[in-house]
Amino acid sequence: MFKVDNIKTNDKQQRISVHSHIKGLGLNAEGNVVQDSCGLIGQQQARKAAGVVVDLIKMKKMAGRAILFVGPPGTGKTALALAISQELGDQIPFCPMVAGEVYSAEVKKTEILMENFRRAIGLRIKETKEVYEGEVCEITPIEVDNPLGGYGKQIHHLLLTLKATKGTKQLKLDPSIYESLQKQKVEIGDVIYIEVNSGSLKRIGRSDAYATEFDLEADEYVPLPKGDVFKRKAVVQDITLHDLDYANAHPQGGHDVLSMMSQLMKQKKTEITEKLRHEINKKVDKLIESGQAELITGVLFIDEVHMLDLECFTFLSKALESNIAPIVVMASNRGNCLIRGSEDVYAPHGIPLDFLDRTIIIKTVPYTREEILKILRIRVRIESLDIEEAALLQLAMIGARTTLRYALQLLSPCSQLAKVYYSNITTKILDEVSELFSDCRQSAIILNQENSHYLK
Ligand SMILES: Nc1ncnc2c1ncn2[C@@H]1O[C@H](COP(=O)(O)OP(=O)(O)OP(=O)(O)O)[C@@H](O)[C@H]1O
Ligand SMILES: [Mg+2]
Repeated sequence: MFKVDNIKTNDKQQRISVHSHIKGLGLNAEGNVVQDSCGLIGQQQARKAAGVVVDLIKMKKMAGRAILFVGPPGTGKTALALAISQELGDQIPFCPMVAGEVYSAEVKKTEILMENFRRAIGLRIKETKEVYEGEVCEITPIEVDNPLGGYGKQIHHLLLTLKATKGTKQLKLDPSIYESLQKQKVEIGDVIYIEVNSGSLKRIGRSDAYATEFDLEADEYVPLPKGDVFKRKAVVQDITLHDLDYANAHPQGGHDVLSMMSQLMKQKKTEITEKLRHEINKKVDKLIESGQAELITGVLFIDEVHMLDLECFTFLSKALESNIAPIVVMASNRGNCLIRGSEDVYAPHGIPLDFLDRTIIIKTVPYTREEILKILRIRVRIESLDIEEAALLQLAMIGARTTLRYALQLLSPCSQLAKVYYSNITTKILDEVSELFSDCRQSAIILNQENSHYLK
């Protein structure tokens, strides 16, 4: 007897990241904050503001604008940016980066920024593709003697007969298609789909007519395709400008819009250069003008934006003014500080004033003890921890005294110690853990003490 077992997925083994409880901004239809929804607690003003931004982005009224989240550490700036990306959905590109990423020994800073900029701009290409679709009735490779002599035979062409509800059609195809047929193990009775221009082939499943009484094969049965074997299909493809750049730098062939564009710079594998981007922009403009494509302005999120230097800010200001700029969302927890790359220019959030002037600023504020308690409760649930109520209250107090992040970070070592002691997380364990790990302020105090033994 065959035994069929479902593979059980163990929920507990799911990876949990610091923001995995955030599911959206938690706003109602009027854009007002719904308490405790989508995993977000408090921070009402900032959430409402973020909601307005999301609406504007969806209405396409935000292109080329910059938004800056500012607030002390652990007040939910990164969390809010992620919530924005969730509210925007899959249709609008969202490219997150941390400003520090631009410092690489191999690639220019502005090059990295430019790449991410183009990852945040989408293009929806509408194409009509010509396809053959049907159930395979015949596969006959026609062989000829090898023209170079020898014993081997060579496939000259392939005869393939496809059947759809309105009739059958015999096709004479290139030998390369025979290879793809073999690769996908296509047999008589399978339903396949061949794109006329690119010659790409896809096996959709096995035709219903061949469904056996035994349900043991793990195959998908599909009905006979409707209509004629030859069809015109409208397909919509979402890609980012960076995908186009990349495809051009690594061309592969084919004749649909995507691959045609990838032949702009001819077959050689190249770097993505300024010239290439310029060519692509021209082609994209043409596609948009002819109505074949639609530009979708997405979001570039730059976390810890104070890490950028003067050169990057200059580049950003210029790039924001181009006609295909994305929306730039930034976050910083710095007050007045030195602008990187300058000798002695101090500015709010480490951002040059002229650039700051182009942004709209959303403030986040520290949480109250009650709010911290609620956030802790959510995290305890997400991480499936067993914690005493008294310990949770105490942890919330610690959070209010230090930062939310410190309180959240103590959860994991607490749960580890609890495991060792075979108990739930108690106040005793919490005390022990907060002795073991200090928060940044405590650490700073120790460093400032006269008799600290650190090298100065
Ligand atoms: N309003 C909130 N509701 C629920 N969870 C929150 C909220 N705000 C922050 N958090 C959680 O608290 C933690 C710290 O928040 P986050 O990383 O967003 O802070 P931040 O403002 O980006 O800090 P930093 O300036 O140090 O980068 C994260 O795990 C985040 O998911
Ligand atoms: Mg952050």
